[in-house]
Amino acid sequence: LNGFLAGLFSAAPTAAAAVDPLQLAVYFASQSGTAERLAKKLVKELKAQGHVAELASLAKVTLADVAGKQHALFLVSTYGEGDPPESSISFRDSLFADGAPKLDAMRYAVFALGDRHYEQFCKFGADVDERLRALGATRLMARVDADVDVDVPFEQWKTALRPHLTQAQVPGVVASTAPVAVACAAESAPASPGHSRDNPFHAEMRERKPLTRDVSSKMTMHLSFGLADSDVHYQAGDACGVIAQNDPELVEEILTLLPFAADTKIEVAKSGVTTVRDALLHHLQPTRLTRKIVQHFAARTEAKPLTTLLLPEEASHLDSFMWDRGLVDLLHEYPGSVSEPAELVSMLPRLSPRLYSISSSPAAHGREVHCTIAVVRYRSHNRERGGIASTMLSDRVRVGERLPIYIQPNKKFRLPASDVPMIMIGPGTGIAPFRAFLHERQALGHGGRNWLFFGERSAQTDFLYCDELHGLRDSGYLTRLDTAFSRDQSHKIYVQDRMKENGAELWRWLCEGAQIYVCGDASRMAKDVDASLHEVIARHGGMNAEAAGDYVSQLHDDGRYHRDVY
Ligand code: 2AM
Repeated sequence: LNGFLAGLFSAAPTAAAAVDPLQLAVYFASQSGTAERLAKKLVKELKAQGHVAELASLAKVTLADVAGKQHALFLVSTYGEGDPPESSISFRDSLFADGAPKLDAMRYAVFALGDRHYEQFCKFGADVDERLRALGATRLMARVDADVDVDVPFEQWKTALRPHLTQAQVPGVVASTAPVAVACAAESAPASPGHSRDNPFHAEMRERKPLTRDVSSKMTMHLSFGLADSDVHYQAGDACGVIAQNDPELVEEILTLLPFAADTKIEVAKSGVTTVRDALLHHLQPTRLTRKIVQHFAARTEAKPLTTLLLPEEASHLDSFMWDRGLVDLLHEYPGSVSEPAELVSMLPRLSPRLYSISSSPAAHGREVHCTIAVVRYRSHNRERGGIASTMLSDRVRVGERLPIYIQPNKKFRLPASDVPMIMIGPGTGIAPFRAFLHERQALGHGGRNWLFFGERSAQTDFLYCDELHGLRDSGYLTRLDTAFSRDQSHKIYVQDRMKENGAELWRWLCEGAQIYVCGDASRMAKDVDASLHEVIARHGGMNAEAAGDYVSQLHDDGRYHRDVY
């Protein structure tokens, strides 16, 4: 399907001849780089069709910059629970500011990227779409909301867009008022049909052990869940969803601050009627503040500091205010702001399952699922805080207990053919799927070479799976192991530095058909690694920056560059 649609789009008559050129602005809001990659690709294709297209990140513009454009295309990711990517928060604020300019002259289309695991799927894309229209802009066509497998919906969106770009100049033909269609994104079939997010499997926690040493500044642990003779199956590269429960102590504290009883009935969308206590334990997310929550408290208390924080120019203060606090802090500071249970449901985000890349191999580890989990703990605003799922798994579930999990297939992260070389870049817990891949390849007898880049803070305390990786290397199965311990010397060394140091060899592997896999932090690491890859290709392949960019796009298109970043 993908190839067919791509063919349709690029095989249409050469645009330069068929269309009057339009001036188009292509904007992207990207968290992990996907929206940016697609936007770049789009600009290239629009230019090839004879249009004049310029590319800009929503991180660098405000609505005032966008307002003058006649034709604007938006590729917009949503981050977490309905938020914009961090870099696009100030654009969002300018878009929603009172007194935002009218956009009567603008024609636009939105491609929204998101993750169906989140309740607020593609919410920021939808917000941008609705708001542009409310400000008077004309929607060229219905928005497309794409799940994490973006390529097919993106081709569909471009195919649908194309006729609008030829008609757009003809007055009267343009005013498409089509309702927003939530389209496409073929849902991937679950690997274990009996068990899903809504019907999880209760797996026994069989083992829990630290992978970091006590003195480390971090705590990362290895967990094993037993699948026994259940019908739960997975493939190397898949993720494990953990249905999390909030910390009962925190929930009890919140309950003491509410003016209604813990067993008051409350209706939670899709989960039905339950008690306030149960909703706070299992369905709602009280530990992370959102703008909506702050707005609720600001409206109910008329507290000046909160109202001020919501002003567009205070965006960065609002962000740090929200990072440092949870619902419990606002309830302490502004008593009397919540009077009805329904208010909790309307302002709090839903508690989502947490997905962890599986670090075990079905071929090597049998009926077990292993996860590699960094425990999130920090202190802020006079309180110890932590990640809901990671602290639950480290502190509140005992070995031998059962807890609800499910498999989330990850089709974009699969082993290549047996003899194809693999380059894996996985600092921190990004090592997880690569441990799975290495064991799987070895158990299946794959002959392709393997190269792993691993990075952490310190070799002494944070070398996750150190003995295993050395064992794999010593046996020759892991052809190369390059490590970057960022805090073992006075200057930082990261995986991307090791890539550059070994650029000639990396380029050779690429020429021999290697596939590249990146897993781990999206906000900085994946971008820096991507930049290093461009540099290595330019330098050792003797290309300028543009040709290196084309080479990387081709790697994506050929399914040789895989990223699982979060
Ligand atoms: P740091 O915390 O010492 O800066 C796993 O978290 C490893 O990734 C750590 O060594 C961390 O280093 C490192 N890291 C931090 N930022 C990074 C980036 N932009 N690119 C690659 N690795 C990074």
